[in-house]
Amino acid sequence: MQVNTRFISKAFLFSLSIIVILSSTTYSQQNKNLNQIKSTTYLSEKFELGPGEVLAKGIEDIEFPSGHIGVKSFDVDLVDEQGNSVPLYETYIHHWFAIRYHLNKDKNMSHDIYDHSKPFGGPDYKRNDGTCNTWILPHYWGLGSESRGTSSKLPGPFAVELGNPANITEGWEEKWLFSIMVIDTRGTEDRKSCSECRCDQFNLPENFYNETKDIHGKPLSHEYKGGIFCCQNYFQCKLKNGFQAPYRKLALRYTITWIDWDQHQIPVRFYVLDSTDRVIINGSEVIHDCQAEYTIPENNSIDLVHVQKASIPMKKGGYLIYGTAHMHTGVVNATLYGQDGRILCTSTPRYGTGNEAGNEKGYAVGMSVCYPKLGSIKINDGETVIMESRYKNEFLTGAMGHMYFYLADRLPHTT
Ligand SMILES: *[C@@H]1O[C@H](CO)[C@@H](O)[C@H](O)[C@H]1NC(C)=O
Ligand SMILES: *[C@@H]1O[C@H](CO)[C@@H](O)[C@H](O)[C@H]1NC(C)=O
Ligand SMILES: *[C@@H]1O[C@H](CO)[C@@H](O)[C@H](O)[C@H]1NC(C)=O
Ligand SMILES: *[C@@H]1O[C@H](CO)[C@@H](O)[C@H](O)[C@H]1NC(C)=O
Ligand SMILES: *[C@@H]1O[C@H](CO)[C@@H](O)[C@H](O)[C@H]1NC(C)=O
Ligand SMILES: *[C@@H]1O[C@H](CO)[C@@H](O)[C@H](O)[C@H]1NC(C)=O
Repeated sequence: MQVNTRFISKAFLFSLSIIVILSSTTYSQQNKNLNQIKSTTYLSEKFELGPGEVLAKGIEDIEFPSGHIGVKSFDVDLVDEQGNSVPLYETYIHHWFAIRYHLNKDKNMSHDIYDHSKPFGGPDYKRNDGTCNTWILPHYWGLGSESRGTSSKLPGPFAVELGNPANITEGWEEKWLFSIMVIDTRGTEDRKSCSECRCDQFNLPENFYNETKDIHGKPLSHEYKGGIFCCQNYFQCKLKNGFQAPYRKLALRYTITWIDWDQHQIPVRFYVLDSTDRVIINGSEVIHDCQAEYTIPENNSIDLVHVQKASIPMKKGGYLIYGTAHMHTGVVNATLYGQDGRILCTSTPRYGTGNEAGNEKGYAVGMSVCYPKLGSIKINDGETVIMESRYKNEFLTGAMGHMYFYLADRLPHTT
């Protein structure tokens, strides 16, 4: 969708919301009310960033379509005050995650959103159906540098059902937040290392390793060479001598398309599987232990590909409707296999070749999406799938291998 940029810059004064009727769809001849796919483009709260700086924060209570709806797509861009897309070599989009939560309307707890000790009224996070341990990768939508070139569109009558009053406790309301991490790499000594969150490029606080807890709440190992823990809010990446540039204000511009929910929509479940998941099976209990990120060590081997994989039992299966992967620059591909070795989905990168936002040379700027022929790919209940991520065999910190997919319990009736 094209958005008028003059309109966008004014919208920094007020939050923006344009409703455009994109297309009309009739899934069924019996559907008397013409149910239309709607599209709204919003602008998040803005944030300020200077050369070399990391911004890693949550933006609570973002604008989101209300009511009982089916979301068809959720696309995000990073823009400056004029509404122009900011290229990755200026501000690297490490990730943005859209996270769902329920909040008690009677409590003024919105500022305690990260305080999990609040038993009442505090946010009740609603994670996706993916298999990671509770706090890890809970989002419903989320990508990184590949955001601009990766479709989030759900085909046909499939949609993510949200806002069903039957699923929201009386007195509570459904809300969304963005968890984002972006790195301003203007003027940095080593752009690539800053984008990879290499610890030795950042002004780590004194006693950083002694005081930082890893993803399991244990002290961070001194062997940790890079990744999300070295890219905390307002950490500073090394700049070239004397480099100066003004701070600038940026925001996420996001477009959601959705349809009012009716019986013609088919709900899907969203899964994130992580190739670092160290699954432990103890009797009938399956314990997941996702690391979220990993390091690819220095390697002079001629074997050019590093392979990371996990075998992950799926309690419940379904028809595969959509699949893609969130990975970083250096990605070769990611594949989800069934228990019998059949390929369920492979996602491959597109690397940029130019200067403009969306096509930045050397960066992974898009991942391909699997849209299997309806009904052709099904994961069985209880099936153990294999999630495999492949990178070039070069030193890389903070590598991620996350497969995103949607499953449906049923297919549309063909008439
Ligand atoms: C919540 O806080 C606002 C501003 O601090 C106040 O005006 C409002 O009455 C509070 N609401 C409740 C339910 O406590
Ligand atoms: C909503 O609630 C209904 C009935 O209570 C349930 O069948 C359905 O799975 C729920 N949907 C979601 C998206 O949680
Ligand atoms: C922090 O770690 C260093 C090792 O790098 C160690 O020498 C030092 O004693 C530790 N400091 C504290 C306060 O634990
Ligand atoms: C496995 O389950 C048994 C019985 O429930 C429990 O005692 C044991 O601690 C579990 N082991 C692990 C590694 O979780
Ligand atoms: C180098 O990479 C290959 C292929 O991934 C791997 O088998 C080998 O163990 C690696 N060697 C070192 C020293 O890490
Ligand atoms: C993924 O990349 C590997 C190279 O490591 C290649 O052999 C394989 O064919 C690719 N998979 C697919 C399905 O394209």
